[in-house]
Amino acid sequence: MTPIAQLIRQARAIPVIVIDDVEDSLPLARALQAGGLSSMEITLRTAAGLQAVARLRGEVEGLSVGVGTVLSVEDLKRAHAAGADFAVSPGFAEDLVKCALDLDLPYLPGAATPGEVTRGRMLGLDAFKFFPAATLGGPATLKAWGDVFPDNHFCPTGGVSPDNAGDYLALPHVAAVGSSMPAPRKMVQERKWEEIRALSHQFVASTHLK
Ligand code: 3PG
Repeated sequence: MTPIAQLIRQARAIPVIVIDDVEDSLPLARALQAGGLSSMEITLRTAAGLQAVARLRGEVEGLSVGVGTVLSVEDLKRAHAAGADFAVSPGFAEDLVKCALDLDLPYLPGAATPGEVTRGRMLGLDAFKFFPAATLGGPATLKAWGDVFPDNHFCPTGGVSPDNAGDYLALPHVAAVGSSMPAPRKMVQERKWEEIRALSHQFVASTHLK
C-alpha cells in the first residue's frame, strides 16, 4: 500500500476546506481535530489556501494537512514547498502524477472512469479520489469498480454526507470519504468553531456506522 493509501485509510473522513483568511487556519484546524478528524484538505480555490498550509506546518500534532484542487504542476510544487503532507486533484493528468512522484509527495488524483484508474495504476498509483461521487453513480458505481480494482483504494467526494458515508465505507476498497460538510465556507468565515467541532464529530461518527 502506498503512503497516500495508508493516509486516507487511516483518516477515513477527510474534510474539504475553503478558507478565506489565513488567520482562521489554526482555530479551524483545532476545531476539526477536536471533533475527531485527523486530516484536512485545504483547497487552492482561495489565495489563503496555500498560506494556511504553510501556517499550519508543524503546528497541530496528529493532523495531516493536505492541499486540494491541485490543477497544475506549479500548484503541486507550491504545495510541496509549503509543507503539505499530501495533495489532491479533482481530475487525472499524467504530468501531475509524474510530478508528485518526483517530489515524493503523497498524491490522490481524481478518477471518474475505469480508464483513469487504469492509467494511474500503470504509473504506480493505488489510491484515487472518486469525484464527483454522487453524480458519477455513488456507491453503486464504486461497488462495480471494486470487482475489477479490488486492490485499489478510493475516496469518494462530492455529495457525501453523514447520511450516505456509511454506504460508501461499507465497501472494502473505499478507504475514506471526503466532504465539505464539517466546515462549510460560511461557517469558517463566521468563525463558528464550536459548530465546526460538532459537525466534525457528526461526520466522524457517521464513518463508524455499518
Ligand atoms: C471537493 O472539492 O472535493 C468537493 O467540492 C466537495 O464536495 P461537497 O461540497 O459535496 O462535499
